[in-house]
Parts: sequence; C-alpha cells; structure tokens
Amino acid sequence: MDRLAATIGSPARLLVKRDDLTGLALGGNKARKLELLGAEALARGCDTLVTGGGAQSNHARITAAAASRLGLGCHLALAGREEHRRDGNLLLDELFGATVHFTAAREYDEIERSIDALAEELRAAGGRPFAIPVGGASVTGVVAYALAVDELRAQIDDDPDWIFVADGSGGTHAGLLAGLGAGSRTRVVGVDVGTRPDLDGVVPRLASEAAAASGRAAPSATVIVDHDHFGAGYGALSDECAHAIRTVARTEGILLDPVYSGKAMAALLDRLQDGRIRAGERVVFWHTGGAPALFANRYEVSLTQEP
Ligand SMILES: Cc1ncc(COP(=O)(O)O)c(C=O)c1O
Repeated sequence: MDRLAATIGSPARLLVKRDDLTGLALGGNKARKLELLGAEALARGCDTLVTGGGAQSNHARITAAAASRLGLGCHLALAGREEHRRDGNLLLDELFGATVHFTAAREYDEIERSIDALAEELRAAGGRPFAIPVGGASVTGVVAYALAVDELRAQIDDDPDWIFVADGSGGTHAGLLAGLGAGSRTRVVGVDVGTRPDLDGVVPRLASEAAAASGRAAPSATVIVDHDHFGAGYGALSDECAHAIRTVARTEGILLDPVYSGKAMAALLDRLQDGRIRAGERVVFWHTGGAPALFANRYEVSLTQEP
C-alpha cells in the first residue's frame, strides 16, 4: 500500500493480505474457516450448519453461502429483531436460503447459547446439525489461520515485523499466532472491535490449542490486543474508523468495513503516526473483509463525508 504510506507520510513498508478476496460469497476471513469447518460437518454426516452473530454478521453470511455450496441447510441465530431492514449481510443470508432466527441475545455468551439451543432443537426434530461457534472460533476454524500463515510465508521473503488484524471472536488472531509458531519476531496486533470482553485470555488459549491440533510448536509471541479503537462499541461507527475507511478507499481503491477492518486500520494508522512502528519496518495489514456491511443503511452519510 505504497500510496497509503506516502499519503500519511509513513516511512514503513505497508503490505496488505487480501482476505477480503477469499472468493466465497464476497469473501472475508470466515471463508478460510468455513473451508475446514464445512469439511468437518460433511465428515460427521451432518445435514445443517448452525451458527450466529450480530444481525450484520459476515460469519453468518459466509456460513449460509458455504451451506449452499455444500448442499447443507443453514440456520442462523442472530441478535436483533424481526423488523431489521433486510440490507447488507442480512439480505445475503436470506438470498442464500438460510433460515434466520432473531433471538433476544445481546451479549456474546448469550449468542453462543442460542446457537447451541437452536442446534439442540434441530436435533430433537430429527436433524443432524453442526453447530459452529460465533466467528467460527472452534479449534478447527482457528487452524485455518495457522495454515494462512504458511500461505503468507510462500508469498513474502521474511516474516513481517508487524501484522495488524481485527479481533472479533479472536480466532483469526489466535490462528496467526499458532501459524507463526515459536521464535517468530512478528508482533501481531489484534484490534478489539468490542465483540467480547475476554480477548486477552481467549486468544492465547485458542492459539495453543490450534498449535497442538495442527502439530505445531506452541506459539511464543506476546499476545498484543489493542483495546483503544472500538469507539462506542461493537458496530458503532467511530470518526477515526470512517476516516480510515475513506483514506484507504481514496488512496488504494480498497474497501474496508465499518465494524472490523476499518477499526483495525484506524489502529494501524495511529501507530504509524505516533512512531511506534519505525522507519523501514514491514507491516502486513491482514484484511479480513466485511465490505457488505457498508451497504447497511445506517452508515451511508457518516461514512463518505468528513465530520
Ligand atoms: C470482516 C471481519 N473481520 C474480522 C472479524 C474478526 O475475526 P475473528 O472472529 O476471527 O476474530 C470478523 C468476524 O466476525 C469479520 O467478519
């Protein structure tokens, strides 16, 4: 992202890993996780994928698309109410034929419980559901991001000095740590987007579990979670996030999103500008996708105009 670096006057070398282009149903990080989770569901003889998240969950949209691709059913437990406008990811969930259940759930743990309850209901009715936790953050889903590091290493000469990534469930961050393994000098900054309060504990635990499950050495890197950029909370668009989205759109022609990647980029821009990232260091911004949320009605005006 040379034009971005030049525009903000940064002497660092900025690279972007385009997981917004992973290929399934408008892409994003969840496509990598669903590749392994879908295989696990088929291997177990399941007939329906069940997951959940916020009303504009990218993970739900990609799970719905994966279910279509694999010939499985899909049930989604979403936080919110029936009267939600059918825009952005929610429109796509229904386009893929998923059955959407709005739950009263608000907190992360409540959504996890509604996924389990929904799976239980389907099982009691004779179905063979495969329950996927919020964000696809089971060990299998996390392993997908250990494998993604192998892909990155085949694309660039040396491990980067920094990786920046959005942290929702923490699964992507954990997988990257598992993939980098012991002794890597890369500092991975996971940017908390306000989804769950326990990232500092969850990320190292999932990283160790994924490393063990994929036969890798336990990761040694210090876990860095940036808690300074979620603004007013999950899904609430902040000025610095909108600014980051506009800046990247207008310098690189790349779309970030208002909930995840825009906040991760806001954190990266801060660290580039305050000197914590030094001249010549190589930074990989791990783009996790999410652009369908740009088309959720509430963001229109505040996104495109400076306040
Ligand atoms: C676009 C986007 N980026 C980042 C994340 C966070 O990934 P993880 O849940 O693996 O932390 C999500 C998860 O919902 C997402 O949809």
